[in-house]
Amino acid sequence: MLRTRLCELLDIQAPVLGAPMGPEIMGLELAAAVSNAGGLGIISFGGYLPPDLKERIRKLRTMTSRPFGVNILLEGPHLPVPEAAFVDVCIEERVPVLSFFWGDPTPYVEQAHSAGIKVCDQVGSVSAAKRARSAGVDFIIAQGVEAGGHVAGAVGTMVLVPVIVDAVGPIPVVAAGGIADGRGLAAALALGAEGVVLGTRLIASTECNAHDIYKQKIIAATEEDTVRTTLFGNGWPNAYHRTLRTPFVNQWLAEEKRGSEQRPDEPIVGEVTLGGMRMPLPRFGGIPPARDATGDIESMDFLAGQSAGLVSEIKPAAEIIREIVVQGESILTNRAATGAVA
Ligand SMILES: Cc1cc2nc3c(=O)[nH]c(=O)nc-3n(C[C@H](O)[C@H](O)[C@H](O)COP(=O)(O)O)c2cc1C
Repeated sequence: MLRTRLCELLDIQAPVLGAPMGPEIMGLELAAAVSNAGGLGIISFGGYLPPDLKERIRKLRTMTSRPFGVNILLEGPHLPVPEAAFVDVCIEERVPVLSFFWGDPTPYVEQAHSAGIKVCDQVGSVSAAKRARSAGVDFIIAQGVEAGGHVAGAVGTMVLVPVIVDAVGPIPVVAAGGIADGRGLAAALALGAEGVVLGTRLIASTECNAHDIYKQKIIAATEEDTVRTTLFGNGWPNAYHRTLRTPFVNQWLAEEKRGSEQRPDEPIVGEVTLGGMRMPLPRFGGIPPARDATGDIESMDFLAGQSAGLVSEIKPAAEIIREIVVQGESILTNRAATGAVA
């Protein structure tokens, strides 16, 4: 079995992390499936109030006895309560891993460590990786610009991973963005990463809570069918995200500033669940459609990375992880021995 220092650090069997994908897409079921398969499922804090997040963490614990993570966006969308309140819940609950994105983790690392929690920060540049190192995080996720969802930087995974490894080693670095199979895992390890994050690949999993139209679109998409844009503002204006270039997105791309502004008079296009509550979704509202979304699904935000071009089947998460690890291991072994492709 392929093992890296990340496996030791996090007490996991496979160096594969399931990306937090907002509150509804990486639901508890998918996070538990990833952790039960030997990886690390990471849920998002998003959309919930601190007491609800506490409940979710407790529920997840009934679904897996393996380590998992909770992700908190530090300078992301406007929140009804400060980020620190969510960190406090994670510390009270002693979650195994606290994962940060989009902001400075420095104020929280010491407190988390004293509760025995491992901390990571997802970054898109060497400067942010150095800040994370100074903050004292346990590992760093290097997110390339081909990643799905919000993207922090502008450099591709193939370059970003080795420059960050060089800059912050020996802190373990995990590669995110563009990885959907064992070839990506093997490549990431060859670049000096100690593991990978899967986002887009896991949308097309049986346990994922994404709307069926969303899953089908991921399967149908090629690597050229995404765009990095600020079109879907949703209280988090001017933040680049990678989403599928649907007919709706094509129609509005020339006016992406308008989407980002989130004008109060945008029409309501449907209804979604956020933080356990039903809410109307205005046009350009950046909530990707979960199973129970209703209305004009086609005009919603299908966050996805270029790795959609590598995804052609919906499978259980455990199968996805097993196949990636087996293929990755086989490539690394056979290449080292013979130079041949597995
Ligand atoms: C639907 C979706 C939602 C995402 N939401 C979050 C999030 O809430 N927090 C976060 O840190 N990253 C989020 N990301 C980014 C992932 O953490 C990760 O960087 C990305 O999925 C990796 O690229 P890939 O999609 O090619 O696997 C999201 C990605 C997707 C596809």
